[in-house]
Amino acid sequence: MTDGKIWLNGSLVEYDDAKIHVLTHGLHYGTGVFEGIRCYKTEDGSVIFRLQDHVKRLIESGRIYFMDLGFSARELERAIIDTVIANKMEECYVRPIAYYGYGKMGVNPMPNKVSVAIAAWKWDEYIKGAEEKGARLMVSSWMRLDPRTMPMHAKSTANYANSALARVEAIKAGFDEAIMLNSSGMVVEASAENVFIVKDGTLITPPTSSGALAGITRDSIITIAKQNGINFLERNISRDELYIADEVFLSGTAAEVKPVGEIDNRTIGQDGGRPGKMTKQLKALFEAVVHGRDQKFKTWLTLLKS
Ligand SMILES: Cc1ncc(COP(=O)(O)O)c(C=O)c1O
Repeated sequence: MTDGKIWLNGSLVEYDDAKIHVLTHGLHYGTGVFEGIRCYKTEDGSVIFRLQDHVKRLIESGRIYFMDLGFSARELERAIIDTVIANKMEECYVRPIAYYGYGKMGVNPMPNKVSVAIAAWKWDEYIKGAEEKGARLMVSSWMRLDPRTMPMHAKSTANYANSALARVEAIKAGFDEAIMLNSSGMVVEASAENVFIVKDGTLITPPTSSGALAGITRDSIITIAKQNGINFLERNISRDELYIADEVFLSGTAAEVKPVGEIDNRTIGQDGGRPGKMTKQLKALFEAVVHGRDQKFKTWLTLLKS
């Protein structure tokens, strides 16, 4: 991604003009909140998936950090739509971000103005090769941020220093992605995805009280699973339960539904780590929903023309 338009504080500017000052508070102290949203092609035209829910989470993330974004939910939704339209992409990933700007240095962000930016780019394959073989994961030596340390309902830039440490550790060790545990040793999430396991026909994911982000893809999968009569449980998952799960997959806006084939060098399931039946079923159902082929979930889609 090197060209196109970026929405910055109310107007669309050229890609190269979307610059920030080096003394931006968010850069020094991690005082920013952001979203990841996807735009999909459907028969009726391009749509943004769960736009209102993403904007709501962005505003709520800001509220946790006393950050008034200065734009209403409706204005932000419109700005996101305008950014995608301006970049002329049928399918893309959209990244709204709000951050404390510059003016007064020091840990307290409050004297600085909040800026909001929205960019869009093509983000096709997130973990290469995972669709067929299943991703290779390791349990990170880095503990997931504790809700007593950081507010995990805020999708804040600061949380991603923890994610980046875990992701880099995994990549350097030859894995695709990391799974992190909480201070009780229970599974929380991957560096940028929620985690699901399938055991004896039941779909299971850790509760957000584990410290996991209330993922919008996670919520979509749970809703779709329930609608399709799949047994579902939200409960804590221990590390060793990952190893003996029948299936494991990750969910997230960037990753969508990613099958997991291996964790800590243990093959998942009975088929050499290849994607399991329920993972394939949920992935197909999710894809039908985001591409507008499932009438029941049309309210999750916002047409770009609207
Ligand atoms: C740490 C973390 N957990 C979970 C998710 C999945 O959330 P969503 O499905 O809303 O993209 C993300 C992605 O943003 C994430 O960064």
